[in-house]
Amino acid sequence: MPMTQNPKILLTGSRGQLGSDLKGLLEAEGLGVSAFDSRSLDVTDKKQVVDAALKARPDVIINCAAYTKVDLAEKERERAEAVNAGGVENIVNAAEKVNAAVIHVSTDFVFDGLKSTPYLETDRANPLGVYGETKLQGEELLRRYPRHIIVRTSWLYGASGPNFVKTMLRLAADKAVLRVVYDQTGSPTWTKDLAGALALAAKGAGNMPAGVYHYSNEGVASWYDFTVAIIEEAERYAGPFKCKEILPILTGGYPTPAKRPAYSVMCKDKIKKALPDLKIPHWRVSLRKMLAELYGKAGA
Ligand SMILES: NC(=O)c1ccc[n+]([C@@H]2O[C@H](COP(=O)([O-])OP(=O)(O)OC[C@H]3O[C@@H](n4cnc5c(N)ncnc54)[C@H](OP(=O)(O)O)[C@@H]3O)[C@@H](O)[C@H]2O)c1
Repeated sequence: MPMTQNPKILLTGSRGQLGSDLKGLLEAEGLGVSAFDSRSLDVTDKKQVVDAALKARPDVIINCAAYTKVDLAEKERERAEAVNAGGVENIVNAAEKVNAAVIHVSTDFVFDGLKSTPYLETDRANPLGVYGETKLQGEELLRRYPRHIIVRTSWLYGASGPNFVKTMLRLAADKAVLRVVYDQTGSPTWTKDLAGALALAAKGAGNMPAGVYHYSNEGVASWYDFTVAIIEEAERYAGPFKCKEILPILTGGYPTPAKRPAYSVMCKDKIKKALPDLKIPHWRVSLRKMLAELYGKAGA
């Protein structure tokens, strides 16, 4: 999909954990960014989105705005749909008016997790809950617009959370024993790494045809493995933790309103081929970097 080398970018959801890292990166790279958080641009408001696009005249709109409360979505379908599907529809409408490309972030939760080998972009989506359903609706609406890139990602965490890493750090400070599920497998992904991939895509690096792409950090883990690594890596900054034991439990031992895919590892061959300059670190390397940043020891 042809894009300009120094694109003007309109970014939505710039206060979220991914949006804030992407905003910082794009600004550091000297790209022209009009960044909007949920207070300055509500993606469910069609007119606001058009007005913002007409004012900014972007080459690319990057959508990091989303309703991301997976469990609450089971009770708030209308709200989740308004943001994750209606919001995308409004962005497409605005993009058409200024002939901008749209880069949109989606999720591993569009899959049912029944596979045992990494999910391909062509695999059938079959979400298990309302959040995944509404994200899939958003993908489908965007696919009708020719100038789109959809990047599905998984298990996101960043210094500006809230997220799983920060929750585990808080629990480890408070509890002697943590029980964490070990029968859900995925790939943790640092928001800064994903932001780098999105920036490359926005700059038109490589040859990226319109379509769906999968991106996560390298490697796989269960939530239990991830927790063990989080506590081990954070010990040097925040230890000793009250937590002395981390026990693996089955999903059934930690019931949640929304069902989650048991296996959501995604194959990244397509994005690697489209963006040859993309370097994807192992999740543990990125976890270490994120924790250093979180505890103010970046470069440690
Ligand atoms: N978190 C994960 O583990 C994960 C995994 C896979 C994919 N994803 C996808 O990755 C993307 C980024 O997720 P994230 O973790 O950065 O989410 P996040 O931290 O919840 O950020 C989402 C942002 O969207 C904003 N927002 C909500 N409703 C809006 C609206 N109507 N108009 C404009 N902005 C609105 C929120 O605003 P407020 O700050 O006001 O709440 C928030 O800042 C999303 O598309 C998500 O579906 C996330």
